[in-house]
Amino acid sequence: MSNTTRYPGLLAAGPLRIGGLCVPLPLVQGGMGVGVSLAELASAVANQGGIGVISAAIISRTPRYAGRGLSDAEALKLEIRRARGMTKGVIGVNIMMALSDNEALARAAAEEGADILFVGAGLPLTLPGCIPEGSKTKLAPIVSSGRAAALLIKWWKDKYGRLPDAFVVEGPLAGGHLGFKLEEIFEPRMRLEYLTQATLQETKKVKDGGGPDIPVIAAGGIFTGADIRAFLELGAAAVQMATRFVATRECDAPEAFKQAYVACAKDDIIIVKSPVGMPGRALSNAFMARVGLGQASPVRCRYHCISSCARDKSPYCIADALLCSLSGGTQDGLVFAGANAWRVDKMTTVPELIGELDREYTESLDGARDTRLPERIATL
Ligand SMILES: Cc1cc2nc3c(=O)[nH]c(=O)nc-3n(C[C@H](O)[C@H](O)[C@H](O)COP(=O)(O)O)c2cc1C
Repeated sequence: MSNTTRYPGLLAAGPLRIGGLCVPLPLVQGGMGVGVSLAELASAVANQGGIGVISAAIISRTPRYAGRGLSDAEALKLEIRRARGMTKGVIGVNIMMALSDNEALARAAAEEGADILFVGAGLPLTLPGCIPEGSKTKLAPIVSSGRAAALLIKWWKDKYGRLPDAFVVEGPLAGGHLGFKLEEIFEPRMRLEYLTQATLQETKKVKDGGGPDIPVIAAGGIFTGADIRAFLELGAAAVQMATRFVATRECDAPEAFKQAYVACAKDDIIIVKSPVGMPGRALSNAFMARVGLGQASPVRCRYHCISSCARDKSPYCIADALLCSLSGGTQDGLVFAGANAWRVDKMTTVPELIGELDREYTESLDGARDTRLPERIATL
């Protein structure tokens, strides 16, 4: 069955246009490090008409590349090539600015012809300078406020004579590292609806000034097709979802990692302090309990992966903790998860999941056409 008949609702809501790039579905699979979203998941999503995203973080240490003496940039190029072998769809790469090798990764991804780079965990002020001249790779900063979007728009224009091709605005319900202070995470004014509106205001200023229409992609806690509809109605051009893609057969994480999502309860999802210097959202487990008691092993820095990591003071090594959960040690490592991970109740496949989102999207159009979003905003 072709995707045209498979996802009629979401296809009608699309396409997502980012410059010359045309994505049939208004859906981006969020990049998930370390090694949770690689070529298998990214190509599966791209094959269904969304943007599939490979996480570049410490990719050379993930099982496929470990021990081969490759740099992250070299491993990333191989992984993009692998994804290209599995799909003709749109493939993106997620890069964290906090990574020491962020510039090399961005250059490598552009050289390898990634369609788009999603860059967050720090403001990507210098990103355009890392991309080879003439590259067609689109650049999409991940921001957590309208202010950050405005700053990037001005900075890139002044310094590089270009604008971001899209923005992802990520709210505090996301998984992994969060671009908020600890005390901001649960503040009503930080709800994704507001952050999306604030970012849209900044892109509108660009358009009103005769500039391009920069698409805004909303991320963080979007779980159902009705949520997708709410954010598209608000003005987002697409949504980015990560947590829901973990418990899929195609996800690159080991089975134990996926089952930890299926098994977790609401109380198991906690905010952790990451050595990166940002709060993060993860599953509580024996490892986090040891960290809480100050009993985690002292840091031996083997990777020098994060430029902002306070190695001497960190209670644990984030790379070791993430790689441990990736090798199946979900009690002994760090398992990042979004606030809605407890709602994941079964294993599925990428086509089944997108089919479910499509049905929910269409039902929400038929049902609560004009009520849901205004209600959500009014109650903030
Ligand atoms: C397991 C996991 C790992 C993640 N790793 C990264 C990452 O390496 N870089 C990044 O920018 N975002 C990362 N994220 C955030 C996602 O890309 C995404 O924007 C966010 O989780 C969306 O919210 P949702 O999970 O509620 O759909 C991660 C999320 C999860 C669940």
